[in-house]
Amino acid sequence: MKLIYQNMLSFLIVILTTLGIILYSVTSASTNWGYNRTYKSLESYAGNLEKIALKNDPKTGQIHNITGDNIRTVEQVLSERNVQFAIFDYKNNQVYPTPPTNVKLHLKQSYWKKLKQGKTIRNIQKPQNTAGNPRLRKDDDRSYVYVLTPWFQNGKLIAAVWAGSDVSELQTNIGEINRRLYFALLISLLAAIILSFLLSRYQVNRINRLRGATKKVANNDFSVQIESRGRDELDDLADDFNQMVKSLEASDKEIKRQEQRRKEFMADASHEMRTPLTTINGLLEGLAYNAIPEESKDQSIQLMRNETKRLIRLVNENLDYEKIRTNQITMAKRVFDANKPLKDITSQLKKKADSSGDELILKPYEGELKTYADYDRFVQVIFNIMQNAIQFTNKGKIFISGGRDDERHASIFTISDTGIGMSEDQVKNIWDRYYKADPSRKNRKYGESGLGLSIVHQLVENHGGEIEVKSKLNEGTTFTVTLFDEGYEHKPDEDKKEPQNKES
Ligand SMILES: Nc1ncnc2c1ncn2[C@@H]1O[C@H](COP(=O)(O)OP(=O)(O)OP(=O)(O)O)[C@@H](O)[C@H]1O
Ligand SMILES: [Mg+2]
Repeated sequence: MKLIYQNMLSFLIVILTTLGIILYSVTSASTNWGYNRTYKSLESYAGNLEKIALKNDPKTGQIHNITGDNIRTVEQVLSERNVQFAIFDYKNNQVYPTPPTNVKLHLKQSYWKKLKQGKTIRNIQKPQNTAGNPRLRKDDDRSYVYVLTPWFQNGKLIAAVWAGSDVSELQTNIGEINRRLYFALLISLLAAIILSFLLSRYQVNRINRLRGATKKVANNDFSVQIESRGRDELDDLADDFNQMVKSLEASDKEIKRQEQRRKEFMADASHEMRTPLTTINGLLEGLAYNAIPEESKDQSIQLMRNETKRLIRLVNENLDYEKIRTNQITMAKRVFDANKPLKDITSQLKKKADSSGDELILKPYEGELKTYADYDRFVQVIFNIMQNAIQFTNKGKIFISGGRDDERHASIFTISDTGIGMSEDQVKNIWDRYYKADPSRKNRKYGESGLGLSIVHQLVENHGGEIEVKSKLNEGTTFTVTLFDEGYEHKPDEDKKEPQNKES
């Protein structure tokens, strides 16, 4: 069943039940009220009638004078209300209206008993139920609502007065009240149906809007947003939906980016391997077909060894990266004075810097530069960053410095160069494997496979440290590495555990 009908049905069930209860209560209250009012009026007429219409012998108690004229006068006065009377004497014989000769009319014995006990009887008389009931005439076929009241004198029942009124009048009155009531209820039922339909349609429309939006999202349209005014649960649902769409959009972008990076990674890795393999293959074929002159053979073999080494380095670095990334390396962290390794690395790279016309400037740190790290991995990090600085700086300056930030409980290392620098977009990707800001750059002395910084990044993360880069195209680059003291390391948060833009 459609939701709109379910809603309407539940609305209607509630409304009909309420209306039914109201209808039942009001009709029974109005009927009771109508009957009570009639009974009370009849009782008061009967009471008054005794005073004005009956005379009896005080000794025997026998009614000897019924002033029938008085009764008829009263009946005429009350004719508007259709009131009639009957009188029964102390022997339970109807004495007014006088029955035809040879006919005796009596009250039922059970009534008579109650009357003797001083009780007043209220009842409705139906024409088909006449045996023993009071009647004005034997052939009277009307229905009456009547009261029977006893008349006592000196503690003795001397007469009973029957006062009745045609029930049809009362029923007409009650019927009129009920008709109006039914009409009012019918109008409210119609109003309720229209209102419940409008309300249900409004809610169903809101749900349908959500359905439409869901379909769009299913078709990869993440631009959809549902209007929400924070009124009720459906608006809350719309808010959640909007939030979900935003997350889905972000995930979709990330998945596409990752997919793109995966493709690039495959292409880059294949490309990096193809170059040395092609060289080796060419030289081997030359040797096989004796196409290489004897005097060049040594040089060819040397070339093949270099290319093989390059391949081995590539594979090793890849493996190293995977091991670091999956925490498969054990780090022997300890506290050491970082002044020494900084000095060693600088003098080790001096020759290479000279060949690029670069000046390496190490700003010495006064005192002990206490650093908590794995010594070899620390050297690997600084060495890599400095190698890059030399590689991407031509006839410039490279500054290396180390220092302490005691407030943060950390040692901070800065390597800045006056080299080619990078744009903002390039900086975003440098932690990615095989990323090179300029892929067309030809093979250089120091590798250029695009693996160095992804390894550096992973190593610093594994130390619970931080690495930052600031760069400006054609002006230079500054790398800052922060390594925290024991107990102050940053727990790498799960999302950032791997390089932000890394492929897996
Ligand atoms: N100091 C720098 N100045 C300018 N660009 C840099 C600098 N350091 C890194 N880059 C850019 O970041 C890229 C990634 O560096 P990364 O060290 O990961 O790879 P690589 O040096 O090209 O190769 P290798 O794996 O041999 O280190 C570089 O190719 C370069 O484009
Ligand atoms: Mg490098």
